[in-house]
Amino acid sequence: MVLKAELHCHVEGAASPGLVERKAAKYGADVSAFIVGGKFVWHDFTSFLHAYDQASALFRTEEDYADLTEDYLLSLAKQDAIYSEVFISTDHAISAGLSPRAYIEGLAEGMRRAKAATGIESRMIATGLRHKGPEAVMQAAKYIAENPHPLVTGFGMAGDERMHHPRDFAQAFDVARDAGLGITVHAGELSGWESVANALDALKPSRIGHGVRAIENPDLVRRLAEEQILLECCPGSNISLQVYPDFPAHPLPALAKAGVPVTLNSDDPPYFHTDLTCEYDIAAEFFGYDETMLTEVTRTALKAAYVDEETRNQLIARLDSDKTVRAGDADFAGSAANS
Ligand code: ADE
Ligand code: ZN
Repeated sequence: MVLKAELHCHVEGAASPGLVERKAAKYGADVSAFIVGGKFVWHDFTSFLHAYDQASALFRTEEDYADLTEDYLLSLAKQDAIYSEVFISTDHAISAGLSPRAYIEGLAEGMRRAKAATGIESRMIATGLRHKGPEAVMQAAKYIAENPHPLVTGFGMAGDERMHHPRDFAQAFDVARDAGLGITVHAGELSGWESVANALDALKPSRIGHGVRAIENPDLVRRLAEEQILLECCPGSNISLQVYPDFPAHPLPALAKAGVPVTLNSDDPPYFHTDLTCEYDIAAEFFGYDETMLTEVTRTALKAAYVDEETRNQLIARLDSDKTVRAGDADFAGSAANS
């Protein structure tokens, strides 16, 4: 058993087809265009985003979001996760007719319930959607800067990376940074290394969502290592979206070997037929990570988490005490075997 932490999962993208079907029944909606045989259907990034938007439109109340968040965090806790950051999107809430305030309150309630039940710690990263353009991303940043919430600790940008230049969003990210939020941005997933370099230059993030295509430029890899920019890697998502043909072709091990901090994440688990355990298993099977290395991945995530120092120290202490307990178990198993 390895304790886990996740820094990159979109809360709307964590809704299972079953939960989406239940919301569709509640609202009398037809999901046959994007759920078939209990699975989400899409065939490329654009159709994935479309299915994702349609499913998200079925979460319409504070309680719908409390449900979804509680559901997801309980499932993570069952997978031995002790910490989770979820991307949230006020744009999706507004499109579904829910106020950003009620949306965030619902999410926070789900987080409180999951923490009370399992101890799992969690935070939200507000996002703007790149394909909606600079003005929409500025609105998302302004909302979160003007309406701080203790559980919203970061700001990021998701959506279609092939649209617009990072510099178009610099002002929005300044607003978020000035509000004290941690900064991450999706880049180097659908577009190549230049997209990562441009995001770093224009938006000054401490982490990059995906970022794996940085591998295309050795100077950029060196820069990521020197500046210790963390890559929130999502191998299962990358293979589903055909960023790479298969896991052996995935650059995570090469990036890690070059000294770039990397973590393991599920992105939009049911869309990509994955979950956090699956991602840790992929690293074990295809990248040769043993339990010690996987525990270090969790530690890397906790060190880069957008969380206050007291909580960070508690989480790291939990990771360390689990290691000690397991080392003790191994000694016990060893002495029992020898007796
Ligand atoms: N929104 C949800 N999942 C995403 C992904 N993999 N890339 C960009 N935007 C997203
Ligand atoms: Zn993502």
